[in-house]
Amino acid sequence: MYRKKVLLLCMFGLLGQSVSAQTSLSAARITGGSSTARFTLGLTLDNGASYVTTATTADSVRIIGTIAPEALQVGQTADIFVVARIGSSYYMRNAAGNFVPWDFLTSDLATFKTQTLASPHQVDFITSKIPLTGTILLFLGYRAADGVLIYTPAPASITITAPLPPPPPPPPPPPPSTLQQAQTQFSSTISPRIIQANCIACHVKGGEADGQTSLLYVFSSDPNHLTTNFNILKNFTKANGRVYILNKSSGGLGHSGGAMLPTGSTDYKSMDSFLQLLEQL
Ligand code: HEC
Repeated sequence: MYRKKVLLLCMFGLLGQSVSAQTSLSAARITGGSSTARFTLGLTLDNGASYVTTATTADSVRIIGTIAPEALQVGQTADIFVVARIGSSYYMRNAAGNFVPWDFLTSDLATFKTQTLASPHQVDFITSKIPLTGTILLFLGYRAADGVLIYTPAPASITITAPLPPPPPPPPPPPPSTLQQAQTQFSSTISPRIIQANCIACHVKGGEADGQTSLLYVFSSDPNHLTTNFNILKNFTKANGRVYILNKSSGGLGHSGGAMLPTGSTDYKSMDSFLQLLEQL
């Protein structure tokens, strides 16, 4: 009995090999010597459509194994053994389906299932999330009518990692530049409500202000009127200042056009805030 457990110690101590498809694993008899049995083991996230070697703790995984027993053993009743090694600790799957610590020096290996051997014989190693991170070595074994344990001397190896953190949220779009803010205000408010609806009645070629000022706009029928008029007003503001324009348009400084934007009116305030932007350009 002691000898058997020392052998088990050796057999479960070997390093694993990783699985890219369901991995084919050779079989050995605990009593020594080879076996014609074959095992496969694989970690799958899609119920066996494909196999991987890594998963995260958030993945619902299946580890599926198969046993192709020795020809004479097909149809025999066998105890199936499922063992996982994490670090230096071993866990065996018991009849209740739980993985329980296995100290193979003091306790016997629990039987996961007793079944009639098919060929191949499928073993559900685990179907669940795996809450531990790290490398896990997987072993399968069975004991048929002759009472000799046949097992995978070299385990399959899988790695469980923490789930990837969610991607960082995209950075907020940069705030609009002063120029963009001014252009937006001009096209949404200043041009339609003030320039085209009011000032251009006189401030246009051939209009009343023509010949007395360079502050002459183009009509909205001009496809480029927004850009053209924006630049006219911008350059005029640069040259003469916001306060001058506000005074004129509210009827001050002898504006021939009179109080087109009475002080304190909504349009006056819109014009004021727009001109403040222009001054910053
Ligand atoms: C009824 C005609 C008329 C309307 C409408 C009018 N203006 Fe005038 N505006 C004039 C005339 C004429 C002049 C040139 C004589 C003067 O300076 O008063 C002038 C001059 C100005 C000047 C000074 C130009 C310079 O070269 O120094 C400013 C600024 C001005 N207007 C702004 C406005 C704004 C802003 C509006 C629209 C809200 C507007 N005006 C609407 C007739 C008008």
